[in-house]
Amino acid sequence: MRRVVGKNVVEFSAEQFDEMVERYSGGVILDVGAGNAKHAYKLARAAQDTLVIALDAAKDNMQKVAGKAKASPAKGGAPNLICVWAAAEKPPAELHSVTELHSLMPWGSLLRGMLGSDAEMLQGLARLCVPGAEFLVTLNLHAWRPPVPEVGDHPEPTPDSAMEQLAPYYAAGGWTLNEARYFGAEELDALATSWTRRLGSTRDELDVLGLTGVIGK
Ligand SMILES: C[S@@+](CC[C@H](N)C(=O)[O-])C[C@H]1O[C@@H](n2cnc3c(N)ncnc32)[C@H](O)[C@@H]1O
Repeated sequence: MRRVVGKNVVEFSAEQFDEMVERYSGGVILDVGAGNAKHAYKLARAAQDTLVIALDAAKDNMQKVAGKAKASPAKGGAPNLICVWAAAEKPPAELHSVTELHSLMPWGSLLRGMLGSDAEMLQGLARLCVPGAEFLVTLNLHAWRPPVPEVGDHPEPTPDSAMEQLAPYYAAGGWTLNEARYFGAEELDALATSWTRRLGSTRDELDVLGLTGVIGK
């Protein structure tokens, strides 16, 4: 697979990944559509026994964090973080043993896949996970205000409509949606997503629907 290390992209083998999985006993978190990888970096720093994978179809935004991660832990490094350049529709076959999957503020084809247009994408991601892996997807509802092309015919989801309409689709992908609820500003701050401000919204206006559940159970 293609690993982003600072400004470079290097090949990272299945053996190297297996060795990382063995080294970290706290599990494996996969952040899909990681953007600048700040959320993944925060997770990696907070749980140094956990392997964290930031995966994104665009490599450049991850360079800064991938460079910072190389430093020693005392100087802000995160040896337990790997940044991977790949699309969610075609995740590297070398990945496995994921115990937790996050996808914060997806857009583009990732958003389409999270909304019902690509059960194969969900199935492909599910194959990377251990049975019972937990997932967290946060949808930025400003994608519906006004609607961006990716939302297609899907109306803006509410907690109730997500449980009615998204849950069956997620089930087809092997994901069990257990809860859909609005996330407050404090919860969003804690996630360190970089996309709370970028749609021109203030914290007061920002509405985010969080979807949680388990994969492969
Ligand atoms: C709005 S940004 C959110 C970034 C980050 N999760 C955050 O909350 O700060 C959406 C990200 O999804 C990525 N993305 C879109 N489609 C993707 C796909 N099919 N596979 C992987 N990443 C994708 C984009 O490159 C972008 O970095």
